[in-house]
Amino acid sequence: MAVAMNEHLPKRILVTGGGTGIGLGIVRHLRDLNRDVIVVGRRPQPLEAAAALGAIVHAWDITDNVQGLFDLVGPIDGLVLNAGQYRHEMCSQWSVETWTDLWRVNTLAAVLLSTEFANRLVGPGAIVAVASTLAKRPAPGAAAYAASKAALLSVIQHLALELAPRGIRANAVLPGIVPTAMTTSEQDSAKAQDHHDYAMGLHPIGRLGRPSDVASTVVHALANPWMTGANLNIDGGLLVRE
Ligand SMILES: NC(=O)c1ccc[n+]([C@@H]2O[C@H](COP(=O)([O-])OP(=O)(O)OC[C@H]3O[C@@H](n4cnc5c(N)ncnc54)[C@H](OP(=O)(O)O)[C@@H]3O)[C@@H](O)[C@H]2O)c1
Repeated sequence: MAVAMNEHLPKRILVTGGGTGIGLGIVRHLRDLNRDVIVVGRRPQPLEAAAALGAIVHAWDITDNVQGLFDLVGPIDGLVLNAGQYRHEMCSQWSVETWTDLWRVNTLAAVLLSTEFANRLVGPGAIVAVASTLAKRPAPGAAAYAASKAALLSVIQHLALELAPRGIRANAVLPGIVPTAMTTSEQDSAKAQDHHDYAMGLHPIGRLGRPSDVASTVVHALANPWMTGANLNIDGGLLVRE
């Protein structure tokens, strides 16, 4: 990335869910650019990978006490809303528990983290949310997750509009399928192979995503001083296929 762009990359950035998968890829990219990075996730053990990259880590559930989290973390000028959860449920099984849990972590926590970030920030800054192509294109069993991510896109656009006069930008990235703990939990090897073949067929570019594919786009959105309110597809062509 050009030096001029890096000038606008926030200096101290909180990455939620940065101990695993896509989040860890974002932490690696930011540390390579010498940024101070703070990472939160619920389980202490996965956070060790982020600590090994030089991030400050805190075991914290983002659905709890967001003000307490910001007191602990201290001043930041970048926020990456990456933590998320998925649950597969067909409409015949939709449950209050799943819809509540997924909206709490994927949407409401992002809302509360963003407002706390903006209220404490003096000067410019940037927010990037990791949404999903499912926010734009449905898939069987994904409604609770997809709807929570679609709402997140709207939250980001409102943040972009309202915070632009203060020099605070907000953007969203929409990844296609990236093999991580979230997408590879199937134990049955035949079903896992079927799922892999199905996933491959969704991406015209001919491969699934890597955390680094998404991370470079997140960092670009954090750094680009004229980008705000954007929905960035990073999906191997998933959203443009027939
Ligand atoms: N992988 C994909 O194909 C894909 C596609 C589109 C979008 N995404 C999005 O990308 C983001 C990262 O997912 P991933 O694929 O990298 O899966 P992942 O490895 O399961 O990452 C999710 C992270 O979120 C953390 N987390 C979950 N609930 C939390 C909570 N209440 N408080 C704090 N941290 C919490 C998890 O840590 P703990 O469990 O320790 O809390 C974990 O580190 C998610 O928002 C996901 O929706 C993924």
